[in-house]
Amino acid sequence: MTETVSFSYQDLLENFDWSVSERELGYKKGDRLNIGWMCSDRICRLGQAGKPALIWEDHQGREKRFTYNDVRVLSNTVAHFLVSLGIHPGERVCLFMDRVPELYIGFLGILKAGAVAQPLYSAFGDESLFVRLCNADTAAIVTQRKHVHKVRKIRERLPGLRHIVVVDAGDAPLENREISLEMEEAAPIEHFDVYPTVAESPSVLHYTSGTTGQPKGAQHVHYSIVSQYLTAKCVLDLRPEDVYWCNADPGWVTGTSYGIIGPWANGITQVVLDSGFSAERWYKFMEKHRVTVWYSAPTAIRMLMREGDELVRQHDLSSLRHLCSVGEPLNAEAVLWSRKVFGKEFHDTFWQTETGCIVITNFPGMAVKPGSMGKPFPGITATVLDPSTYEPLNQAGATGLIALRPGWPSLIRSYWNDEAGYQAKFKNGWYLCGDRASIDADGYYWFVGRDDDVINTGGHLVGPFEIESALLEHPAVAESAAVAKPDPVNMEVVKAFVSLKPGYEASDDLELEIMNYIRKRLSPIAMPQEIEVTNAIPKTRSGKIVRRVLRCREFNEPVGDLSTIMDD
Ligand code: WT7
Repeated sequence: MTETVSFSYQDLLENFDWSVSERELGYKKGDRLNIGWMCSDRICRLGQAGKPALIWEDHQGREKRFTYNDVRVLSNTVAHFLVSLGIHPGERVCLFMDRVPELYIGFLGILKAGAVAQPLYSAFGDESLFVRLCNADTAAIVTQRKHVHKVRKIRERLPGLRHIVVVDAGDAPLENREISLEMEEAAPIEHFDVYPTVAESPSVLHYTSGTTGQPKGAQHVHYSIVSQYLTAKCVLDLRPEDVYWCNADPGWVTGTSYGIIGPWANGITQVVLDSGFSAERWYKFMEKHRVTVWYSAPTAIRMLMREGDELVRQHDLSSLRHLCSVGEPLNAEAVLWSRKVFGKEFHDTFWQTETGCIVITNFPGMAVKPGSMGKPFPGITATVLDPSTYEPLNQAGATGLIALRPGWPSLIRSYWNDEAGYQAKFKNGWYLCGDRASIDADGYYWFVGRDDDVINTGGHLVGPFEIESALLEHPAVAESAAVAKPDPVNMEVVKAFVSLKPGYEASDDLELEIMNYIRKRLSPIAMPQEIEVTNAIPKTRSGKIVRRVLRCREFNEPVGDLSTIMDD
């Protein structure tokens, strides 16, 4: 497919330096650097104060519009409020909301106050919320009435959580530690002294799942904007006149790096739809707002495919210029389908919570090989390593570990309170993504799979340990193992194996009860889609669950040699 491109991959690759991005952002080494200021005040100073920054719509079609000046003033208002509560620079402030304007603008406000934004997916149940607030020793949480009951359930176990800010309290009675902030009703703060953060000051703390232990806090710094600005501009191909839509929820990194920072650092108008999935609503939304750039995900694309081509034809989607995807492997069929129905192909982008920005991608203008993730972004040195020696494989088609040379601006600087876990991500001078891929003779990367037991369901990572621990808290469960099971739409879903305590009998009712228990305590994404009662959960001699045996069975794959693992 031919496209008119703003940048050529080859041109950008030659003499690439991240300082291009610093210059465009007006940043010089040693200057103060604050993402909140960069994404609002700076755009206003560039003469764009009246340009729409956010056009928001909810499931009932209610709409709100905010210019860059509105975002500037309202984020000041939130920042001022937090400072007046006594929030100190560096303290964690959690955002626990649906996709309401307060989430997007509050994010900038937290950063302007010098605090660390900790966004959490609002579908999390009380246990998932507790684990992450406890680990981060969070000082305040900003939430909505509809979610505050989950915070009330756990606040006694969180003595460090000093403030529970409710953004839509109205006249609802507030309890202990709760306080109301109605962002648009509060006295607007025209001028706020943005806290003087610098490049390495902590900015965003995103929780991500690993195989062992509870989720880890991936700590980003303000300097990440240097990567996010340029990749948003070059990979998402954002141009001043664009109307950009990112499907992702800011509870996950796509929703902050490319749902807040990337587009707003570029002074782009973005649209947000605060509603669940509905193919018809999505097409209507894009038609109505004349969306030009759309960043979505394979599971969503497969869900749209299921709704058929006719529905696409019933809408005028001629405004769409560039389509991108992230979160899981983008299957070739999805690319071919998008060519057929939108006349444009989805461009796969590969990255992670930890990388902070897109690292491997189908660059605009570069020929797309359907099913491939594309090539490293200029400025990213990538390879695949031999899993035993951690040396680059340098052999077309050979599968190895995806590895990146550390040093690009948005790589996380630590896992919160887990230095050993952070160090374990580096081998032989490379950062390991925890994924496997091969590189073909043209330098294109082909994703093979994860290199651990983490389950990727609909682009969301869930850690088996978190699910297994929650299962063990159910009165009927004696032992548990959680593994991925293949799924045509979500790529993978969670399947749980449990053995029961004496006195409990396997039944459909019990299985449903356990599923529901996990849905409420953790989240709908962590809920097992299937529960198998078994007395044979495979374990090593030292008692570690060997999930690989169960997983391979689900995927009909050979288990391979287990002798060394079983002796652990
Ligand atoms: C993991 C990172 C940052 C995006 C949201 C997910 C998988 C991500 C792709 C892709 C195949 C992908 C990997 C990766 N993944 N993008 N284009 N093709 N797999 O962020 O929750 O940190 O998950 O998602 O396994 O390591 P995350």
